[in-house]
Amino acid sequence: MEPLRWRLMALLPLVASFLLFYFNYYFKSSASECSLLPHNHYWIVSKRIVTPKGIISGAVEVNGGNIISVVKEDDWRGNARSKSVLDYGEAVVMPGLIDVHAHLDDPGRTDWEGFPSGTRAAAAGGITTLIDMPLNSFPSTVSEETFKLKLNAAEGRIYVNVGFWGGLVPENAFNASALEGLLRAGVLGLKSFMCPSGINDFPMTNASHIKEGLSSLAKYKRPLLVHAEIPQEPEDYVKGESGADDVRSYSTYLKTRPASWEEAAIRELLAVTIDTRSGGSAEGAHLHVVHLSDARSSLNLIKEAKKRGDSITVETCPHYLAFSAEEIQNGDTRFKCSPPIRDAANKKQLWEALLDGHIDMLSSDHSPSVPELKLFDDGDFLRAWGGISSLQFVLPVTWSFGRNYGVTLEQLVSWWSEKPAKLAGQDLKGAIAPGYHADIVVWDPEEEFDVNDNHPIYLKHPSISAYMGSRLSGKVLATFVTGNLVYEDGKHAPAACGVPILAR
Ligand SMILES: *[C@@H]1O[C@H](CO)[C@@H](O)[C@H](O)[C@H]1NC(C)=O
Ligand SMILES: *[C@@H]1O[C@H](CO)[C@@H](O)[C@H](O)[C@H]1NC(C)=O
Ligand SMILES: [Zn+2]
Repeated sequence: MEPLRWRLMALLPLVASFLLFYFNYYFKSSASECSLLPHNHYWIVSKRIVTPKGIISGAVEVNGGNIISVVKEDDWRGNARSKSVLDYGEAVVMPGLIDVHAHLDDPGRTDWEGFPSGTRAAAAGGITTLIDMPLNSFPSTVSEETFKLKLNAAEGRIYVNVGFWGGLVPENAFNASALEGLLRAGVLGLKSFMCPSGINDFPMTNASHIKEGLSSLAKYKRPLLVHAEIPQEPEDYVKGESGADDVRSYSTYLKTRPASWEEAAIRELLAVTIDTRSGGSAEGAHLHVVHLSDARSSLNLIKEAKKRGDSITVETCPHYLAFSAEEIQNGDTRFKCSPPIRDAANKKQLWEALLDGHIDMLSSDHSPSVPELKLFDDGDFLRAWGGISSLQFVLPVTWSFGRNYGVTLEQLVSWWSEKPAKLAGQDLKGAIAPGYHADIVVWDPEEEFDVNDNHPIYLKHPSISAYMGSRLSGKVLATFVTGNLVYEDGKHAPAACGVPILAR
Protein backbone atom coordinates (compact mmCIF):
# COMPACT_ATOMS: atom_id res chain seq x y z
CA MET A 1 0.00 0.00 0.00
CA GLU A 2 2.58 2.49 1.19
CA PRO A 3 4.79 2.51 -1.94
CA LEU A 4 1.80 2.90 -4.23
CA ARG A 5 0.37 5.88 -2.30
CA TRP A 6 3.78 7.55 -2.43
CA ARG A 7 4.00 7.06 -6.11
CA LEU A 8 0.55 8.61 -6.59
CA MET A 9 1.47 11.52 -4.32
CA ALA A 10 4.52 12.17 -6.48
CA LEU A 11 2.32 12.30 -9.55
CA LEU A 12 -0.09 14.88 -8.10
CA PRO A 13 1.93 18.04 -8.86
CA LEU A 14 2.45 16.80 -12.37
CA VAL A 15 -1.27 16.18 -12.89
CA ALA A 16 -2.12 19.56 -11.35
CA SER A 17 0.29 21.44 -13.55
CA PHE A 18 -1.07 19.64 -16.61
CA LEU A 19 -4.61 20.63 -15.68
CA LEU A 20 -3.54 24.22 -15.08
CA PHE A 21 -1.77 24.33 -18.42
CA TYR A 22 -4.78 23.03 -20.32
CA PHE A 23 -7.20 25.33 -18.52
CA ASN A 24 -5.01 28.30 -19.33
CA TYR A 25 -4.52 27.21 -22.89
CA TYR A 26 -8.22 26.60 -23.41
CA PHE A 27 -9.44 29.93 -22.03
CA LYS A 28 -6.67 32.06 -23.51
CA SER A 29 -7.02 30.57 -26.96
CA SER A 30 -10.80 30.79 -27.09
CA ALA A 31 -10.74 34.45 -26.06
CA SER A 32 -7.98 35.39 -28.46
CA GLU A 33 -9.70 33.63 -31.36
CA CYS A 34 -12.26 36.47 -31.34
CA SER A 35 -9.64 39.20 -31.44
CA LEU A 36 -6.20 39.81 -32.88
CA LEU A 37 -5.35 41.45 -29.53
CA PRO A 38 -4.38 39.45 -26.43
CA HIS A 39 -6.14 41.84 -24.02
CA ASN A 40 -9.48 43.59 -23.78
CA HIS A 41 -8.39 46.73 -21.90
CA TYR A 42 -6.40 49.02 -24.19
CA TRP A 43 -5.98 52.51 -25.59
CA ILE A 44 -6.35 53.49 -29.25
CA VAL A 45 -4.18 56.54 -29.86
CA SER A 46 -4.32 58.82 -32.91
CA LYS A 47 -4.02 62.41 -34.07
CA ARG A 48 -7.44 62.26 -35.77
CA ILE A 49 -10.20 60.80 -33.61
CA VAL A 50 -13.67 61.79 -34.84
CA THR A 51 -15.88 62.42 -31.80
CA PRO A 52 -19.27 64.15 -31.45
CA LYS A 53 -17.32 67.09 -30.00
CA GLY A 54 -15.02 67.42 -32.98
CA ILE A 55 -11.81 65.84 -34.24
CA ILE A 56 -9.24 65.44 -31.50
CA SER A 57 -5.72 64.18 -31.05
CA GLY A 58 -5.75 61.82 -28.10
CA ALA A 59 -6.77 58.37 -26.95
CA VAL A 60 -9.85 56.16 -26.79
CA GLU A 61 -9.84 53.80 -23.80
CA VAL A 62 -11.59 50.49 -24.44
CA ASN A 63 -12.44 47.90 -21.84
CA GLY A 64 -14.68 44.86 -22.05
CA GLY A 65 -16.22 45.87 -25.35
CA ASN A 66 -17.12 49.43 -24.43
CA ILE A 67 -15.52 52.84 -24.78
CA ILE A 68 -14.56 53.87 -21.23
CA SER A 69 -13.07 57.27 -21.89
CA VAL A 70 -12.01 59.60 -24.70
CA VAL A 71 -9.19 61.96 -23.77
CA LYS A 72 -7.29 64.71 -25.53
CA GLU A 73 -3.56 64.39 -26.00
CA ASP A 74 -2.79 66.96 -23.28
CA ASP A 75 -4.81 65.04 -20.71
CA TRP A 76 -3.51 61.72 -21.89
CA ARG A 77 -0.64 60.95 -19.60
CA GLY A 78 0.29 57.68 -21.21
CA ASN A 79 -0.34 56.02 -17.87
CA ALA A 80 -1.20 52.77 -19.56
CA ARG A 81 1.19 49.89 -19.83
CA SER A 82 2.87 50.33 -23.19
CA LYS A 83 1.77 46.96 -24.55
CA SER A 84 -1.86 47.95 -24.37
CA VAL A 85 -1.43 51.19 -26.33
CA LEU A 86 -2.25 50.96 -30.03
CA ASP A 87 -0.76 54.06 -31.66
CA TYR A 88 -2.17 54.66 -35.14
CA GLY A 89 -0.38 57.95 -35.67
CA GLU A 90 -2.16 60.15 -38.22
CA ALA A 91 -4.74 57.53 -39.23
CA VAL A 92 -8.41 58.41 -38.72
CA VAL A 93 -10.23 56.73 -35.83
CA MET A 94 -14.00 56.88 -36.16
CA PRO A 95 -17.12 54.87 -35.31
CA GLY A 96 -17.45 51.68 -37.34
CA LEU A 97 -19.86 51.88 -40.25
CA ILE A 98 -23.42 50.65 -39.76
CA ASP A 99 -24.78 49.35 -43.02
CA VAL A 100 -28.57 49.28 -42.74
CA HIS A 101 -29.09 47.63 -46.11
CA ALA A 102 -27.23 44.46 -47.09
CA HIS A 103 -28.34 41.19 -48.68
CA LEU A 104 -26.23 38.30 -47.39
CA ASP A 105 -28.58 35.68 -48.88
CA ASP A 106 -28.21 33.24 -45.97
CA PRO A 107 -29.79 30.69 -45.52
CA GLY A 108 -30.77 29.29 -48.87
CA ARG A 109 -28.65 31.21 -51.38
CA THR A 110 -25.20 30.90 -49.85
CA ASP A 111 -23.79 30.36 -53.33
CA TRP A 112 -24.60 34.08 -53.84
CA GLU A 113 -22.90 35.36 -50.65
CA GLY A 114 -23.54 33.96 -47.15
CA PHE A 115 -22.91 35.16 -43.60
CA PRO A 116 -19.21 34.16 -43.35
CA SER A 117 -17.98 35.76 -46.60
CA GLY A 118 -20.28 38.78 -46.30
CA THR A 119 -19.31 39.62 -42.73
CA ARG A 120 -15.59 39.08 -43.41
CA ALA A 121 -15.89 41.56 -46.29
CA ALA A 122 -17.72 43.93 -43.94
CA ALA A 123 -14.95 43.67 -41.33
CA ALA A 124 -12.31 44.35 -43.99
CA GLY A 125 -14.32 47.41 -45.03
CA GLY A 126 -14.68 48.95 -41.57
CA ILE A 127 -18.35 47.96 -41.21
CA THR A 128 -18.95 46.85 -37.63
CA THR A 129 -22.72 46.32 -37.80
CA LEU A 130 -24.86 45.38 -40.72
CA ILE A 131 -28.57 44.90 -40.97
CA ASP A 132 -29.50 42.00 -43.21
CA MET A 133 -32.48 42.25 -45.56
CA PRO A 134 -35.34 39.72 -45.32
CA LEU A 135 -34.72 38.67 -48.96
CA ASN A 136 -32.77 37.17 -51.05
CA SER A 137 -32.24 34.37 -48.56
CA PHE A 138 -34.51 31.37 -48.86
CA PRO A 139 -36.96 31.31 -47.30
CA SER A 140 -37.55 35.06 -47.01
CA THR A 141 -37.77 36.33 -43.42
CA VAL A 142 -41.51 37.01 -43.22
CA SER A 143 -42.59 35.13 -40.06
CA GLU A 144 -41.35 34.12 -36.64
CA GLU A 145 -40.52 30.67 -38.02
CA THR A 146 -38.48 31.91 -40.95
CA PHE A 147 -36.72 34.40 -38.66
CA LYS A 148 -35.62 31.46 -36.47
CA LEU A 149 -34.03 29.87 -39.56
CA LYS A 150 -32.18 33.14 -40.18
CA LEU A 151 -30.86 33.27 -36.60
CA ASN A 152 -29.75 29.64 -36.80
CA ALA A 153 -27.89 30.39 -40.01
CA ALA A 154 -26.10 33.35 -38.37
CA GLU A 155 -25.06 31.48 -35.24
CA GLY A 156 -21.27 31.20 -34.98
CA ARG A 157 -20.85 32.34 -38.59
CA ILE A 158 -20.76 36.15 -38.38
CA TYR A 159 -17.55 38.21 -38.04
CA VAL A 160 -19.32 41.52 -37.29
CA ASN A 161 -22.58 42.22 -35.47
CA VAL A 162 -25.69 41.61 -37.54
CA GLY A 163 -29.26 42.84 -37.08
CA PHE A 164 -32.23 41.85 -39.23
CA TRP A 165 -35.18 43.44 -40.96
CA GLY A 166 -38.33 41.33 -41.35
CA GLY A 167 -40.47 41.31 -44.47
CA LEU A 168 -43.85 43.02 -44.84
CA VAL A 169 -45.71 41.06 -47.53
CA PRO A 170 -49.41 40.70 -48.45
CA GLU A 171 -49.55 37.38 -46.58
CA ASN A 172 -48.75 38.94 -43.18
CA ALA A 173 -49.78 42.59 -43.66
CA PHE A 174 -53.39 42.15 -42.54
CA ASN A 175 -52.46 39.66 -39.80
CA ALA A 176 -51.44 41.71 -36.77
CA SER A 177 -50.58 38.66 -34.67
CA ALA A 178 -48.21 37.36 -37.36
CA LEU A 179 -46.51 40.75 -37.69
CA GLU A 180 -46.26 41.20 -33.96
CA GLY A 181 -44.82 37.70 -33.59
CA LEU A 182 -42.05 38.68 -35.98
CA LEU A 183 -41.46 42.00 -34.21
CA ARG A 184 -41.44 40.39 -30.76
CA ALA A 185 -38.90 37.83 -32.02
CA GLY A 186 -36.49 40.75 -32.50
CA VAL A 187 -36.45 42.10 -36.05
CA LEU A 188 -35.41 45.77 -35.95
CA GLY A 189 -38.20 46.81 -38.33
CA LEU A 190 -39.85 45.73 -41.58
CA LYS A 191 -39.09 46.06 -45.29
CA SER A 192 -41.47 45.99 -48.24
CA PHE A 193 -41.50 46.44 -52.01
CA MET A 194 -43.90 48.50 -54.12
CA CYS A 195 -42.78 46.69 -57.29
CA PRO A 196 -41.91 43.04 -57.97
CA SER A 197 -38.83 42.12 -55.91
CA GLY A 198 -37.58 39.46 -58.29
CA ILE A 199 -37.89 36.90 -55.47
CA ASN A 200 -40.92 34.59 -55.62
CA ASP A 201 -41.59 34.30 -51.90
CA PHE A 202 -41.36 38.07 -51.42
CA PRO A 203 -44.37 39.60 -53.24
CA MET A 204 -44.97 43.33 -53.47
CA THR A 205 -47.21 45.37 -51.19
CA ASN A 206 -49.69 48.14 -51.99
CA ALA A 207 -50.61 51.21 -49.94
CA SER A 208 -53.17 49.28 -47.83
CA HIS A 209 -50.55 46.74 -46.74
CA ILE A 210 -48.14 49.54 -45.91
CA LYS A 211 -50.76 51.34 -43.83
CA GLU A 212 -51.42 48.15 -41.85
CA GLY A 213 -47.70 47.54 -41.41
CA LEU A 214 -47.15 51.04 -40.07
CA SER A 215 -49.89 50.64 -37.49
CA SER A 216 -48.27 47.47 -36.10
CA LEU A 217 -44.86 49.14 -36.15
CA ALA A 218 -46.17 52.18 -34.27
CA LYS A 219 -46.63 50.08 -31.11
CA TYR A 220 -43.03 48.90 -31.26
CA LYS A 221 -41.58 52.24 -32.43
CA ARG A 222 -39.72 50.59 -35.29
CA PRO A 223 -39.32 51.67 -38.92
CA LEU A 224 -40.72 50.44 -42.21
CA LEU A 225 -38.19 50.46 -45.04
CA VAL A 226 -39.66 50.67 -48.51
CA HIS A 227 -38.33 49.99 -51.98
CA ALA A 228 -40.14 52.89 -53.62
CA GLU A 229 -40.79 52.21 -57.30
CA ILE A 230 -44.22 51.60 -58.85
CA PRO A 231 -44.20 50.39 -62.43
CA GLN A 232 -45.63 53.01 -64.82
CA GLU A 233 -46.14 52.79 -68.53
CA PRO A 234 -42.61 53.27 -69.84
CA GLU A 235 -43.95 56.07 -72.04
CA ASP A 236 -40.65 57.19 -73.48
CA TYR A 237 -39.48 53.69 -74.27
CA VAL A 238 -40.50 52.76 -77.78
CA LYS A 239 -39.20 49.39 -78.81
CA GLY A 240 -37.85 49.49 -82.33
CA GLU A 241 -36.79 53.13 -82.18
CA SER A 242 -33.23 53.43 -83.39
CA GLY A 243 -30.96 51.87 -80.78
CA ALA A 244 -33.71 51.63 -78.19
CA ASP A 245 -34.04 47.89 -78.49
CA ASP A 246 -30.37 47.08 -78.04
CA VAL A 247 -30.44 45.06 -74.85
CA ARG A 248 -26.68 45.49 -74.43
CA SER A 249 -27.01 49.23 -74.19
CA TYR A 250 -27.38 50.70 -70.70
CA SER A 251 -29.70 53.41 -71.99
CA THR A 252 -32.21 50.73 -72.99
CA TYR A 253 -32.39 49.53 -69.40
CA LEU A 254 -32.51 53.07 -68.03
CA LYS A 255 -35.54 53.89 -70.20
CA THR A 256 -37.45 50.86 -68.87
CA ARG A 257 -37.20 52.22 -65.33
CA PRO A 258 -37.63 55.99 -65.43
CA ALA A 259 -37.63 58.33 -62.43
CA SER A 260 -41.43 58.50 -62.70
CA TRP A 261 -41.54 55.03 -61.05
CA GLU A 262 -39.84 56.39 -57.94
CA GLU A 263 -41.96 59.52 -57.96
CA ALA A 264 -45.23 57.56 -58.20
CA ALA A 265 -44.25 55.31 -55.29
CA ILE A 266 -43.17 58.17 -53.05
CA ARG A 267 -46.38 60.04 -53.82
CA GLU A 268 -48.37 57.01 -52.61
CA LEU A 269 -46.20 56.56 -49.56
CA LEU A 270 -46.66 60.14 -48.47
CA ALA A 271 -50.41 59.61 -48.38
CA VAL A 272 -49.82 57.11 -45.53
CA THR A 273 -46.87 58.76 -43.76
CA ILE A 274 -49.24 61.56 -42.74
CA ASP A 275 -50.32 59.11 -40.01
CA THR A 276 -46.81 59.08 -38.53
CA ARG A 277 -46.98 62.75 -37.51
CA SER A 278 -47.33 63.54 -33.86
CA GLY A 279 -50.95 62.95 -32.93
CA GLY A 280 -51.47 60.75 -36.03
CA SER A 281 -52.87 57.20 -35.93
CA ALA A 282 -49.43 55.68 -36.62
CA GLU A 283 -47.42 57.97 -34.37
CA GLY A 284 -44.26 56.10 -33.30
CA ALA A 285 -43.84 54.38 -36.65
CA HIS A 286 -41.29 55.71 -39.10
CA LEU A 287 -40.91 55.38 -42.85
CA HIS A 288 -37.50 55.04 -44.45
CA VAL A 289 -37.12 55.20 -48.23
CA VAL A 290 -34.27 52.93 -49.30
CA HIS A 291 -31.78 53.57 -52.12
CA LEU A 292 -33.20 56.79 -53.60
CA SER A 293 -31.82 57.31 -57.09
CA ASP A 294 -33.98 60.19 -58.41
CA ALA A 295 -32.63 63.45 -57.01
CA ARG A 296 -35.37 65.55 -58.65
CA SER A 297 -39.14 65.27 -58.16
CA SER A 298 -38.94 62.23 -55.83
CA LEU A 299 -36.55 64.02 -53.53
CA ASN A 300 -38.66 67.17 -53.59
CA LEU A 301 -41.67 65.20 -52.38
CA ILE A 302 -39.67 63.81 -49.47
CA LYS A 303 -38.44 67.29 -48.56
CA GLU A 304 -42.03 68.54 -48.40
CA ALA A 305 -43.11 65.61 -46.23
CA LYS A 306 -40.27 66.27 -43.80
CA LYS A 307 -41.24 69.92 -43.65
CA ARG A 308 -44.85 69.10 -42.72
CA GLY A 309 -43.64 66.83 -39.90
CA ASP A 310 -43.89 63.27 -41.23
CA SER A 311 -41.53 60.77 -39.62
CA ILE A 312 -39.55 59.94 -42.73
CA THR A 313 -35.91 59.49 -43.72
CA VAL A 314 -34.17 58.53 -46.94
CA GLU A 315 -30.92 56.83 -47.90
CA THR A 316 -28.93 56.64 -51.11
CA CYS A 317 -26.05 54.31 -51.98
CA PRO A 318 -22.43 54.77 -53.04
CA HIS A 319 -23.06 53.46 -56.56
CA TYR A 320 -25.49 56.30 -57.29
CA LEU A 321 -22.81 58.74 -56.09
CA ALA A 322 -19.88 57.12 -57.88
CA PHE A 323 -21.23 56.23 -61.31
CA SER A 324 -23.37 57.83 -63.98
CA ALA A 325 -25.34 56.32 -66.85
CA GLU A 326 -23.14 57.98 -69.46
CA GLU A 327 -20.08 55.98 -68.32
CA ILE A 328 -21.62 52.51 -68.28
CA GLN A 329 -20.27 50.42 -71.14
CA ASN A 330 -22.41 48.25 -73.37
CA GLY A 331 -23.00 44.84 -71.85
CA ASP A 332 -21.42 45.67 -68.47
CA THR A 333 -24.24 44.31 -66.33
CA ARG A 334 -22.19 44.67 -63.13
CA PHE A 335 -23.82 48.12 -63.03
CA LYS A 336 -27.41 46.93 -63.25
CA CYS A 337 -29.48 47.69 -60.17
CA SER A 338 -32.93 49.05 -59.39
CA PRO A 339 -33.74 51.85 -59.27
CA PRO A 340 -31.11 52.40 -61.94
CA ILE A 341 -28.00 54.59 -61.86
CA ARG A 342 -29.09 57.78 -63.65
CA ASP A 343 -27.32 60.61 -65.52
CA ALA A 344 -24.33 62.64 -64.34
CA ALA A 345 -26.41 65.74 -63.56
CA ASN A 346 -28.64 63.63 -61.28
CA LYS A 347 -25.55 62.25 -59.52
CA LYS A 348 -24.38 65.78 -58.78
CA GLN A 349 -27.81 66.63 -57.35
CA LEU A 350 -27.67 63.54 -55.11
CA TRP A 351 -24.36 64.76 -53.68
CA GLU A 352 -25.82 68.21 -53.09
CA ALA A 353 -28.87 66.75 -51.34
CA LEU A 354 -26.61 64.64 -49.14
CA LEU A 355 -24.44 67.62 -48.22
CA ASP A 356 -27.54 69.73 -47.49
CA GLY A 357 -28.97 67.02 -45.22
CA HIS A 358 -32.00 66.28 -47.41
CA ILE A 359 -30.70 62.74 -47.87
CA ASP A 360 -30.12 61.42 -44.35
CA MET A 361 -27.74 58.53 -44.71
CA LEU A 362 -25.95 56.00 -46.88
CA SER A 363 -26.19 52.23 -47.16
CA SER A 364 -24.48 49.70 -49.41
CA ASP A 365 -27.50 47.82 -50.80
CA HIS A 366 -24.88 45.14 -51.32
CA SER A 367 -26.79 42.65 -53.43
CA PRO A 368 -24.70 39.94 -55.07
CA SER A 369 -25.67 36.87 -57.04
CA VAL A 370 -23.79 34.06 -58.71
CA PRO A 371 -21.80 35.45 -61.67
CA GLU A 372 -23.84 33.36 -64.16
CA LEU A 373 -26.97 35.41 -63.41
CA LYS A 374 -25.18 38.58 -64.53
CA LEU A 375 -25.16 37.12 -68.09
CA PHE A 376 -21.76 38.60 -68.90
CA ASP A 377 -21.58 36.61 -72.15
CA ASP A 378 -24.77 38.17 -73.53
CA GLY A 379 -24.48 41.49 -71.72
CA ASP A 380 -28.28 41.63 -71.75
CA PHE A 381 -29.26 44.45 -69.40
CA LEU A 382 -32.92 43.51 -69.47
CA ARG A 383 -32.49 39.88 -68.41
CA ALA A 384 -29.39 40.10 -66.15
CA TRP A 385 -29.83 39.93 -62.37
CA GLY A 386 -29.83 43.41 -60.80
CA GLY A 387 -27.70 44.28 -57.77
CA ILE A 388 -24.38 45.96 -57.05
CA SER A 389 -21.70 44.16 -55.08
CA SER A 390 -19.86 46.65 -52.90
CA LEU A 391 -19.80 45.77 -49.21
CA GLN A 392 -16.04 45.91 -48.63
CA PHE A 393 -15.52 49.22 -50.45
CA VAL A 394 -18.27 51.59 -49.37
CA LEU A 395 -16.03 53.71 -47.13
CA PRO A 396 -13.24 54.35 -49.67
CA VAL A 397 -15.83 54.84 -52.43
CA THR A 398 -17.75 57.46 -50.45
CA TRP A 399 -14.51 59.20 -49.56
CA SER A 400 -12.87 58.99 -53.01
CA PHE A 401 -15.86 60.44 -54.84
CA GLY A 402 -16.94 62.73 -52.01
CA ARG A 403 -13.62 64.56 -51.80
CA ASN A 404 -14.53 66.46 -54.98
CA TYR A 405 -17.49 67.84 -53.06
CA GLY A 406 -15.51 68.71 -49.93
CA VAL A 407 -16.95 65.92 -47.80
CA THR A 408 -15.68 66.01 -44.20
CA LEU A 409 -14.90 63.19 -41.78
CA GLU A 410 -17.79 64.33 -39.57
CA GLN A 411 -20.18 64.00 -42.51
CA LEU A 412 -18.95 60.47 -43.17
CA VAL A 413 -19.71 59.61 -39.55
CA SER A 414 -23.16 61.15 -39.75
CA TRP A 415 -24.13 59.29 -42.96
CA TRP A 416 -22.50 55.95 -42.16
CA SER A 417 -22.76 55.62 -38.37
CA GLU A 418 -24.81 58.17 -36.46
CA LYS A 419 -28.00 58.29 -38.56
CA PRO A 420 -27.98 54.55 -39.36
CA ALA A 421 -27.65 53.77 -35.62
CA LYS A 422 -30.69 55.92 -34.97
CA LEU A 423 -32.73 54.23 -37.72
CA ALA A 424 -31.89 50.78 -36.36
CA GLY A 425 -32.64 51.81 -32.76
CA GLN A 426 -29.04 51.30 -31.58
CA ASP A 427 -28.62 54.00 -28.93
CA LEU A 428 -25.14 52.91 -27.88
CA LYS A 429 -23.66 52.75 -31.36
CA GLY A 430 -22.56 55.30 -33.92
CA ALA A 431 -20.23 57.54 -31.89
CA ILE A 432 -16.81 57.56 -30.27
CA ALA A 433 -17.95 58.57 -26.79
CA PRO A 434 -17.79 57.12 -23.27
CA GLY A 435 -20.41 54.44 -22.68
CA TYR A 436 -20.75 53.58 -26.38
CA HIS A 437 -19.89 50.18 -27.82
CA ALA A 438 -16.29 49.90 -28.96
CA ASP A 439 -17.22 49.55 -32.65
CA ILE A 440 -14.37 51.39 -34.34
CA VAL A 441 -12.70 51.71 -37.74
CA VAL A 442 -9.16 52.96 -38.22
CA TRP A 443 -8.33 54.06 -41.76
CA ASP A 444 -5.92 56.11 -43.80
CA PRO A 445 -7.75 58.62 -46.06
CA GLU A 446 -4.57 59.40 -47.98
CA GLU A 447 -3.57 55.88 -48.96
CA GLU A 448 -4.61 54.82 -52.46
CA PHE A 449 -5.10 51.30 -53.77
CA ASP A 450 -6.30 49.51 -56.89
CA VAL A 451 -9.27 47.18 -56.67
CA ASN A 452 -7.96 44.28 -58.73
CA ASP A 453 -6.97 40.64 -58.39
CA ASN A 454 -3.89 41.61 -56.35
CA HIS A 455 -6.06 43.25 -53.72
CA PRO A 456 -7.48 40.94 -51.04
CA ILE A 457 -11.22 40.91 -51.73
CA TYR A 458 -13.37 38.95 -49.33
CA LEU A 459 -16.65 39.05 -51.26
CA LYS A 460 -17.70 35.63 -52.49
CA HIS A 461 -17.73 36.78 -56.14
CA PRO A 462 -15.29 39.67 -56.70
CA SER A 463 -15.77 39.52 -60.48
CA ILE A 464 -19.31 40.90 -60.27
CA SER A 465 -18.30 43.99 -58.30
CA ALA A 466 -18.75 47.25 -60.19
CA TYR A 467 -15.69 48.60 -58.36
CA MET A 468 -13.23 46.08 -59.86
CA GLY A 469 -10.64 48.02 -61.81
CA SER A 470 -11.10 51.28 -59.94
CA ARG A 471 -8.48 53.16 -57.98
CA LEU A 472 -9.73 54.31 -54.58
CA SER A 473 -8.34 56.30 -51.71
CA GLY A 474 -8.98 55.52 -48.08
CA LYS A 475 -7.55 52.26 -46.86
CA VAL A 476 -9.07 50.46 -43.87
CA LEU A 477 -6.29 49.55 -41.45
CA ALA A 478 -8.14 48.05 -38.49
CA THR A 479 -11.69 47.21 -37.41
CA PHE A 480 -12.86 46.69 -33.84
CA VAL A 481 -16.24 45.06 -33.11
CA THR A 482 -17.39 45.40 -29.49
CA GLY A 483 -13.77 45.68 -28.45
CA ASN A 484 -12.48 42.73 -30.49
CA LEU A 485 -9.87 43.59 -33.09
CA VAL A 486 -11.54 41.58 -35.86
CA TYR A 487 -9.45 42.82 -38.77
CA GLU A 488 -6.04 44.39 -39.20
CA ASP A 489 -3.61 44.67 -42.11
CA GLY A 490 -5.35 42.15 -44.33
CA LYS A 491 -5.80 39.65 -41.51
CA HIS A 492 -9.03 38.54 -39.79
CA ALA A 493 -9.39 37.22 -36.25
CA PRO A 494 -9.82 33.46 -36.61
CA ALA A 495 -13.21 33.03 -34.92
CA ALA A 496 -16.60 34.43 -35.96
CA CYS A 497 -17.54 36.21 -32.74
CA GLY A 498 -20.09 38.72 -34.06
CA VAL A 499 -23.44 38.62 -32.29
CA PRO A 500 -26.98 38.90 -33.63
CA ILE A 501 -28.61 42.20 -32.68
CA LEU A 502 -32.21 41.72 -31.58
CA ALA A 503 -34.71 44.46 -30.86
CA ARG A 504 -36.05 44.48 -27.32
C1 LIG B 1 -52.20 34.92 -38.72
O1 LIG B 1 -50.92 34.53 -38.29
C2 LIG B 1 -50.96 33.54 -37.30
C3 LIG B 1 -49.56 33.41 -36.76
O2 LIG B 1 -48.64 33.23 -37.81
C4 LIG B 1 -51.52 32.27 -37.89
O3 LIG B 1 -51.54 31.26 -36.90
C5 LIG B 1 -52.92 32.56 -38.38
O4 LIG B 1 -53.43 31.43 -39.04
C6 LIG B 1 -52.94 33.74 -39.34
N1 LIG B 1 -54.30 34.12 -39.63
C7 LIG B 1 -54.77 34.22 -40.86
C8 LIG B 1 -56.20 34.67 -40.98
O5 LIG B 1 -54.11 33.97 -41.84
C1 LIG C 1 -54.13 45.92 -51.74
O1 LIG C 1 -54.27 44.54 -51.97
C2 LIG C 1 -55.26 43.92 -51.16
C3 LIG C 1 -55.22 42.43 -51.45
O2 LIG C 1 -54.04 41.86 -50.93
C4 LIG C 1 -56.62 44.53 -51.43
O3 LIG C 1 -57.57 43.98 -50.53
C5 LIG C 1 -56.56 46.04 -51.25
O4 LIG C 1 -57.78 46.62 -51.63
C6 LIG C 1 -55.42 46.63 -52.07
N1 LIG C 1 -55.30 48.05 -51.76
C7 LIG C 1 -55.09 48.98 -52.68
C8 LIG C 1 -55.01 50.39 -52.21
O5 LIG C 1 -54.98 48.71 -53.85
ZN1 LIG D 1 -31.77 45.97 -51.46
